Amino acid sequence: MPDTPAEVAASFPPPAGFAEQANASAELYEQAERDRLAFWAEQARRLHWATPFTEVLDWSDAPVAKWFVGGRLNVAYNCVDRHVEAGHGDRVAIHWVGEPVDDERTITYAQLQDEVSRAANALTELGLVAGDRVAIYLPMIPEAIVAMLACARLGAMHSVVFAGFSASALTARIQDAQAKLVITADGQYRRGKAASLKAAVDEAVAASDSVEHVLVVRRTGIDVDWTDGRDLWWHDVVNDASPQHDPEAFDSEHPLFLLYTSGTTGKPKGIVHTTGGYLTQSSYTHVNVFDVKPERDVFWCTADIGWVTGHTYIVYGPLSNGVTQVVYEGTPTSPDEHRHFQIIEKYGVTIYYTAPTLIRTFMKLGRQIPAEHDLSSLRLLGSVGEPINPEAWRWYRTVFGADRTPIVDTWWQTETGSIMISPLPGVTSTKPGSAMTPLPGISAMIVDDEGNQLQPGTGHGEQVSGYLVLDKPWPSMLRGIWGDPERFTETYWSRFAERGWYFAGDGARYGSDGEIWVLGRIDDVMNVSGHRISTAEVESALVGHSGVAEAAVVGATDEQTGQAICAFVILKARAANEDRDQMVDELRKQVATEISPIARPREIHVVPELPKTRSGKIMRRLLRDVAEGRELGDTSTLVDPSVFEAIRASK
Ligand code: PRX
Repeated sequence: MPDTPAEVAASFPPPAGFAEQANASAELYEQAERDRLAFWAEQARRLHWATPFTEVLDWSDAPVAKWFVGGRLNVAYNCVDRHVEAGHGDRVAIHWVGEPVDDERTITYAQLQDEVSRAANALTELGLVAGDRVAIYLPMIPEAIVAMLACARLGAMHSVVFAGFSASALTARIQDAQAKLVITADGQYRRGKAASLKAAVDEAVAASDSVEHVLVVRRTGIDVDWTDGRDLWWHDVVNDASPQHDPEAFDSEHPLFLLYTSGTTGKPKGIVHTTGGYLTQSSYTHVNVFDVKPERDVFWCTADIGWVTGHTYIVYGPLSNGVTQVVYEGTPTSPDEHRHFQIIEKYGVTIYYTAPTLIRTFMKLGRQIPAEHDLSSLRLLGSVGEPINPEAWRWYRTVFGADRTPIVDTWWQTETGSIMISPLPGVTSTKPGSAMTPLPGISAMIVDDEGNQLQPGTGHGEQVSGYLVLDKPWPSMLRGIWGDPERFTETYWSRFAERGWYFAGDGARYGSDGEIWVLGRIDDVMNVSGHRISTAEVESALVGHSGVAEAAVVGATDEQTGQAICAFVILKARAANEDRDQMVDELRKQVATEISPIARPREIHVVPELPKTRSGKIMRRLLRDVAEGRELGDTSTLVDPSVFEAIRASK
């Protein structure tokens, strides 16, 4: 008996033609099973090492792993120069498509090598050395990728901050990392309009004491304020620099980048990734999960470089494999809903990797839009960021994939660095909505409260769910939280401390064939359109408003965005008399300014009281029931069950 209606449908085996030519065969699982560390050593050797490693894994300092001990390599050399030296300098690395129509650039690997070398020389001129931190606050323009690679080339850590984040979010990240340099643009195009970026940087830098220079790319030509001595134009310093630069090899465990992500508190965590292990797994997963053939594929990952997906599957994965890719600057619906389909058609995109929320947007717009375009170049589709509902999965395969392309639903996190659970497209029979099984070399389990593994195949309608854990270290795992080793241990390694397992924060269950169905976060982290936002962050933005006494935030199921942010606020007496609608408006703006427009609550309810347990903890579960219009769950632990009458009345 199948577990859910989704499993009633037959699974989708890989088409024979695909399986025959696939990079990965079932043999890969066997190899990894036979000797996991030897398997990873072999994957690492796909890269160029200036000094070979002498040990694959040192786990003696757990939970901080050392992978490929003693090895030295340069990430930028591996992503760029290596391909030029192998005779592929004329291959297109990036087909860049700007948001304004016809604003396009094609960059070959040889050109990328010149650009990255110039940028590395320019950054050195500015005093940057290995170990320094650089904040990158740029739209999706080629300079963003060049800047990341230039940092990697010099052994400086980049901290890319999504250009949709506000000045105060940027300030917090610059301060925490003590960034010495900020790389930004005058402005960015968003839905056809040029909006300022530099102004937010000016505000953030004024509040920070570590920043020495601001390097500014001219993107939109809009006016900017200028601080002489501190601010420099990218085109002045980078274009004039030499295109010759000798990359230095760094230790395998040299830090590569910092990427801030939301946790369960108001303060974002700076996730630390290092060099050899991260690049090994990024490259390995990209070649096997996406089956890329560098000579002929055109890969397109639609993420923003501000998120980990952009780091791993726009920059380090595709470039380490010498692949040609499309990078698109703007929103999918600018100037209209045809944009993505036009790009696929124009560049002959063969592999398309996006988020379920976008697929649902396209679904809503209807299949007549894609039907106007020739999408026959597509041979593989990918999904990431949140559980994909089976209906969207099927639509994706039918409408994008003409009922023939495999789909890889890839589960991973900022912390895991690269894909962990996913089908292999030439091997796995997929079930719509399931990320299926851990990749070769990766070990994951679903366990109960006590750490006992749930029995695969016994779901049988009971829908038993548990905690998703990673029970063995993996090469691209995070090495810590910047400046906070205790939080690192506490957040990820304390739930099953005695077993030494990493707890991912997700709930999951096994399906009838032992495949994994990820159900989503079970901590106070929301997932809105694939963006991770913590309830605490939004709550702290709300209580930052002088009229708010208390706030509680929950993520409620939303058909379009996966989850939507619902806030419940208690106003201070003074503010309670003010116009409610105006107040709610102000609060939504406040969240957009404090964090980002992506964190703006869908709903804000002004309530007289919040449901609390006797120990004073807000019962979010009950608020979620209210937000989703459900019958209330167990209210027996509440101090005052009657608060719900008032909360309901406020909706
Ligand atoms: O809840 C899981 C969800 O996204 C979280 C990680 O978010 P972030 O670090 O921002 O990285 C997103 C891109 C890798 C996970 O804890 N998630 C990610 N991919 C999937 C997913 N949930 C279900 N299925 C997926 N394929």
